[in-house]
Amino acid sequence: VKLKDYNSFGLPAQGRVLLRVRSQADVRRVVDHPQWGRAPKFVLGGGSNLVLTKDIEAVVLKVEIPGIRLVAEREDAWIVEAGAGVLWHEVVAWTLDQGIPGLENMALIPGTVGAAPVQNIGAYGVELKDRFESLDVVDLVTGRAVTLDARTCAFGYRDSVFKRSSTEGGLAGKCVITHVRLRCPKPWQPQLGYYDLERKMEQTGIHSPDARQVFDWVCAIRRAKLPDPAVLGNAGSFFKNPVVTPEQCRDIIARDPHVVHYPMPDGSFKLAAGWLIDACGWKGKAVGGAAVYDKQALVLVNRGGATGAEVVTLARAIQESVYGRFGIRLEPEPLVV
Ligand code: EPU
Repeated sequence: VKLKDYNSFGLPAQGRVLLRVRSQADVRRVVDHPQWGRAPKFVLGGGSNLVLTKDIEAVVLKVEIPGIRLVAEREDAWIVEAGAGVLWHEVVAWTLDQGIPGLENMALIPGTVGAAPVQNIGAYGVELKDRFESLDVVDLVTGRAVTLDARTCAFGYRDSVFKRSSTEGGLAGKCVITHVRLRCPKPWQPQLGYYDLERKMEQTGIHSPDARQVFDWVCAIRRAKLPDPAVLGNAGSFFKNPVVTPEQCRDIIARDPHVVHYPMPDGSFKLAAGWLIDACGWKGKAVGGAAVYDKQALVLVNRGGATGAEVVTLARAIQESVYGRFGIRLEPEPLVV
């Protein structure tokens, strides 16, 4: 199976076999399968946070579990459940159409519902974990279904138990997320703390936007600075924003007083990786078909015909130059296979 059309970067790679699962029962059928049951598995959602540098030997499970429904309306929240194969943005749009606000800051994030908890997606001041109720997984060895709460998922910044291997106490490759339940709290309050949203408020003079307005703003902001993977292959932000101690932050400010940094609740500082890369002059630079996006230096794109090796070579060169200038090690954000 050619995997080029199954990853938003559009990188070429082969899979030995690709099995589509549309329900928990389908996952159990795979687990019980005489040929594929015991083979290692690679769980694939929208493929929008993935850098393929080689062929996948494991059995690729393409999760296509459908469905969105309101499962409960409580005094303090709406609980919405979606199948892991549903596109994330469809859930955001669906909830707003039902009059359920709360997910609007996370509009237009590429990928599927099942992938959202894996890296604890987030944007414009709201993360999945802030809207999370629980999720269902099927164990890839026993075929058993279990419901996991937020604690078990161990959400962190672009991180969760599903990203960590079993040697690190994680669940990567151990289970398939089949359904996710989201909690949209009542009463709704707009989350407008992010710089880009504050600027929209000033530009429009609208200071108490409704959820639909925030949704429209987020869509406009993202369309202006993030490439549409359908047009230009990419995997969103390529590096995490590094978190540093106050001492490290002072040291970097001494190297360049313009460095974009945000204080964190625990006293540390988050640095804008895009700014660090931009400051090293990377916008528009390329290795073969892989390039740094010219409107957002944190995003690497496929200008056409890029290979995973080219993406990785470019990423390493960026890491070295940022380390050389600022003493900061950037960590890749997507899964590199
Ligand atoms: N900046 C530059 N030059 C650049 C890019 C950014 O100077 O080329 C500066 C910007 O001016 C801004 C700061 O860096 O002051 C931060 O940039 P931006 O607001 O675009 O957000 P980000 O930190 O680059 C993060 C997330 C995005 C998310 C946005 C909005 C990560 C790794 N990325 O990007 O998430 O959409 O904030 O909340 O945390 C993703 O994870 O794939 C992703 C796209």
